[in-house]
Amino acid sequence: MVRSLVRIARLLHSTPRMASLESAKKAAAYKAIDEYVQNNTVVGIGSGSTVVHAVRRLAERVEEEGLSVVCVPTSFQARQLIIEYNLTLGDLETYPQLDCAIDGADEVDAEMNLIKGGGGCLLQEKIIASCAKRLIIIADYTKSSQKFGEHYKKGIPIEVVPMAYVPIQHKIEKTYGGIVKIRMAVAKAGPVITDNGNFILDWHFPVDMTDWNKINEEISLIPGVIETGLFISMAEKAFFGMQDGSIKEQILHICKI
Ligand code: 5RP
Repeated sequence: MVRSLVRIARLLHSTPRMASLESAKKAAAYKAIDEYVQNNTVVGIGSGSTVVHAVRRLAERVEEEGLSVVCVPTSFQARQLIIEYNLTLGDLETYPQLDCAIDGADEVDAEMNLIKGGGGCLLQEKIIASCAKRLIIIADYTKSSQKFGEHYKKGIPIEVVPMAYVPIQHKIEKTYGGIVKIRMAVAKAGPVITDNGNFILDWHFPVDMTDWNKINEEISLIPGVIETGLFISMAEKAFFGMQDGSIKEQILHICKI
């Protein structure tokens, strides 16, 4: 009995401590805020659970270093966070160009393409990202993949006009295969309604899909599609908090032909 307890204690002592998912998110968020936010900058604030750590760190820095930073939100959640942490709230009317946007992702592939919209905020996230000089992604180790679908199993989010959701479902399934499901709310009967009053479809795509740039362009052209959760070549850098407590960095390589 004593021997086995000693063995367990030794084992616990010798096993490297695994960072929790939450501490991995926090590490990535802190690194991004520390590296990319400077005095007198306008920052896009993304949405999701990882961004909560980023806003907390930003608030700490504003307090400690007296930074002057304007925060432009990508969702209702982000706006509430900015207000809760007493940060300066801005919008695109006053600040149409941002220095950077810091946001989470559901999956990042080897080419730095992203799936976003797991939290349903993809439209405003993409608008803010498109107005930022650089988009910086913060995530835990479960979001880093060679190809889409390797880790993220919930499909590609697509924001659509409510009246058009069924024809859009049919068109995507007929053209590319897979299954397109309307996202249903959890604490409300019926579908999820986005911050913009639309529906979200989640496309569970076939495993052999490639050329996401082309697919993204084609789906975006279907009448009634507002925006897709495919962010192609938009992010400049991704920080992943890893299981061993380290941070992995991935950068966008632009192919010049
Ligand atoms: C919301 C998003 C989020 O950035 C994405 O879902 C990641 O969220 P989390 O940080 O909670 O993993 O795209 O629309």
